[in-house]
Amino acid sequence: MRAKGIFITGTDTGIGKTIVAAAVARHLRKTGFRVGVLKPVTSGAVVLDGRLASEDAELLRWASECSTPDRIIAPYLLREPLAPSEAASREGVVIELGPIREAFDNLSSCHDFIIVEGAGGLLVPLAEHLLVADLAATLSLPLLIVARPNLGTVNHTLMTCECARTRGIEVLGVVINGQSAQPDAAEEYAPRLISKLAAVPVLATLPRCSDGDEKNIVKTLTNLIAQQPLAARLITEASHDNP
Ligand SMILES: Nc1ncnc2c1ncn2[C@@H]1O[C@H](COP(=O)(O)OP(=O)(O)O)[C@@H](O)[C@H]1O
Ligand SMILES: [Mg+2]
Repeated sequence: MRAKGIFITGTDTGIGKTIVAAAVARHLRKTGFRVGVLKPVTSGAVVLDGRLASEDAELLRWASECSTPDRIIAPYLLREPLAPSEAASREGVVIELGPIREAFDNLSSCHDFIIVEGAGGLLVPLAEHLLVADLAATLSLPLLIVARPNLGTVNHTLMTCECARTRGIEVLGVVINGQSAQPDAAEEYAPRLISKLAAVPVLATLPRCSDGDEKNIVKTLTNLIAQQPLAARLITEASHDNP
């Protein structure tokens, strides 16, 4: 039986993967699921309370209430905010699938649903012959693609979908994140074009929040997710027995 979970990727870095992953985690937790979170590779790790930490993993932990140790939730911590393969080689580290797979299996053994946040987009290099897409394919999880709302997003989202499909990765759907209060024409038609041309559902459109506090943004988006098709899709994924 396939482990239950999703792999959250983006059409770019800084697109809202962590915020959306945290909102998804919080939504499922509030619905009663035991949610595990995994940030396999962090570049730009920071020192928090005297230890190296992943800020993304910290937010995901808060949202999911997952109590698994840091070394499992965030197995690769790299200091430099660079492409992971580059940050790793500068520290003499080689990122491999084995430890990530192990962390995933560990999380799967004590949670109902695992949310994995990738790094950057699908073709970001993790090592010389290893891309984020290879990791998503290895974990066999369906993909949730976070995309920006404005002009250019149709191209980036279709490219991400095509990239996933050529590697046999299932695309669950797209979340458009950061829509402005007064969407322009490009923001209006993007969801329609994406769902038509990529033949994937746009499962949620989430607004750009003005609150600077990330936990408050996550709380707001959690409430909004509950009213969008994403909520039902997540419950189906988390509940049904996969083959
Ligand atoms: N819907 C939103 N409203 C306001 N700020 C957002 C929203 N989504 C993301 N952000 C902010 O944008 C930045 C990048 O988001 P993040 O989730 O860290 O992206 P990624 O994980 O893809 O690199 C963060 O500062 C985050 O707080
Ligand atoms: Mg992130």
